[in-house]
Amino acid sequence: MTATASPCIQLGSRTHYDGTLRLGEVGQEVTLFGWVHSRRDHGGVIFIDLRDRTGLVQVVFNPEHCAETHALAEKLRSEFVIGVTGKVRPRSEGMANPKLATGEIEVYADRLTIFNPAKPSPFPIGENLTDELLRLKYRYLDLRNPSMQESLMVRHRVTKLVRDYLDENGFLEIETPILGKSTPEGARDYLVPSRVHPGEFYALPQSPQLFKQLLMVSGFDRYFQIARCFRDEDLRADRQPEFTQIDLETSFLSQEKVMELVEKMMAMLIESIRGVKIDSPIPRLTYQESMDRYGCDRPDTRFGLELVDLTEIAQKTNFKVFAEAAQVKAINVPGGGVYSRKQLDDLGEFAKKFGAKGLAYIKVGESSGPVVKNLSQEEVGMLTDACLAKPGDLMLFAADKPAVVAEVLGRLRLKMAEDLKLIPADRFDLLWVTDFPMFEYDEGDARYYAKHHAFTMPKLEDLSLLDQDPVAVRAQAYDIVLNGTEVGGGSMRIYQREIQEKIFALMGFTPEERQQKFGFLLDAFEYGTPPHGGLALGLDRLVMLLLSRDSIREVIAFPKTQSATDVMVAAPSEVEAKQLRELHLKIG
Ligand code: AMO
Ligand code: AMP
Repeated sequence: MTATASPCIQLGSRTHYDGTLRLGEVGQEVTLFGWVHSRRDHGGVIFIDLRDRTGLVQVVFNPEHCAETHALAEKLRSEFVIGVTGKVRPRSEGMANPKLATGEIEVYADRLTIFNPAKPSPFPIGENLTDELLRLKYRYLDLRNPSMQESLMVRHRVTKLVRDYLDENGFLEIETPILGKSTPEGARDYLVPSRVHPGEFYALPQSPQLFKQLLMVSGFDRYFQIARCFRDEDLRADRQPEFTQIDLETSFLSQEKVMELVEKMMAMLIESIRGVKIDSPIPRLTYQESMDRYGCDRPDTRFGLELVDLTEIAQKTNFKVFAEAAQVKAINVPGGGVYSRKQLDDLGEFAKKFGAKGLAYIKVGESSGPVVKNLSQEEVGMLTDACLAKPGDLMLFAADKPAVVAEVLGRLRLKMAEDLKLIPADRFDLLWVTDFPMFEYDEGDARYYAKHHAFTMPKLEDLSLLDQDPVAVRAQAYDIVLNGTEVGGGSMRIYQREIQEKIFALMGFTPEERQQKFGFLLDAFEYGTPPHGGLALGLDRLVMLLLSRDSIREVIAFPKTQSATDVMVAAPSEVEAKQLRELHLKIG
């Protein structure tokens, strides 16, 4: 008997999601909703892959089974949105598709409703598209791609796991204002003009830093927030102008305890999402160790190529480049001896981008070369021994001020690891970097800047250095690093007015500026502020790393482009003259 097509599959009648059907459902009548992913016609029978956020399932329309439904199915094109009712049956012998989770079954359609047709999509859904601008312009279609659906579902799972973990550990989720006052976090603020206060502006938060500290004053001794933050800074693959932090703060805990809470949460997330167990405690490096060994403060420890200090040996040679430099260090690249002259010249250009004056190298075992010719055989031997280098290896040298040496070799280390594919997949190297310097001195501005932020407590044993040698002061600050990316940063905070005033003074704020900008915080310190400290993780970066994606735009539903625009809604945009007048603004 031929079934008849009913005009409409009722909304709300879904029995299953498309990607969830298995052999266990064989024989059941199911109602599915979704989008037509693809369509194939075989001798009058129409096959479609029906897609929703859980995956694909094959639906079969057979004219002999149900002519009316089949006739309607003739109209189906990619991305039509439909409802289907039918029976689940095993695929016939040899027709199973092992690449598909639902590949052992299909749905034999009885009824079909087309809710809405679709114009041809500007790009095929489910294929890797390189034109990111096009993807972003039609983001609502791009988000139909299984990889984007996965990333937003994982993002949801991560925030859920975080909320549960923090709740179990006694944290309260509290919201802080979006319309606030500028906090000196280091980036430029996004400003919002006030209509009712002509000439005055709110600032969007760069982080909830000051509000969370004030919550500690109020006695909410374990706070967290999945907090939206806004920073008007130059964008990179791991930065967005608006991004999300897992922001937390605690009172009465030691730095050790804060770190323990955070690393356990990170280990739980990595294990839940990727099934990789993280040994605890995770490694720790001081900032100085990290700079010495890796040339950066967020080391990727998934591969070697550590920096070797050769200053002592190098300075005793007659090679001017080495003898006259404040510091000489090298990385040894196993097997790098195969690099051609052209490749080495390119590496030299790369090094120069990061401040190097040149790139000295030795191909171990070769008796000629621009550096070897300047050194005795014994000196070459000492350098190679110090680097544990073997014939066939390539030693790359930087000779300069320590900051330049670190920058150049730190960058080269990462580049060589990428070029030579030394980074193992599926590995999660999580570590802490501690004891950051409190300040950096900016020659141009002739002032100190806080390396983490101005509310960070110096190490108590370094407090006395504040007057004599501020750059030598180390902070009670800690960053958590995953596979060479800083995923979070935090510190123990100053909770005494005098110390805070002193830090502000060093940063060049006059007493009036301090009172005007931070009076509320300084005053609060005088009303029983507990010792406190916390940290914020970058949620976007974290999800990006958990999914091994290479841009945070891949884990944000509606991200901005590199030039901070939203090409879909066309933001930023001009506004009407009336709006400007109301806001007391003139565009100059
Ligand atoms: P910090 O400025 O180090 O600290 O920020 C914490 C974490 O937020 C992430 N992050 C970003 N992610 C995407 N795009 C950006 N533009 C961006 N900027 C930062 C990083 C970073 O590690 N208030 C302090 C935290 C504290 O002391 O508790 C703060 O904001 O992963
Ligand atoms: P030169 O004697 O100037 O020809 O330099 C010999 C080699 O040292 C060349 O390969 C240069 O690229 C390299 N070199 C020059 N200055 C530096 C430096 N500051 N650090 C590392 N290598 C350098």
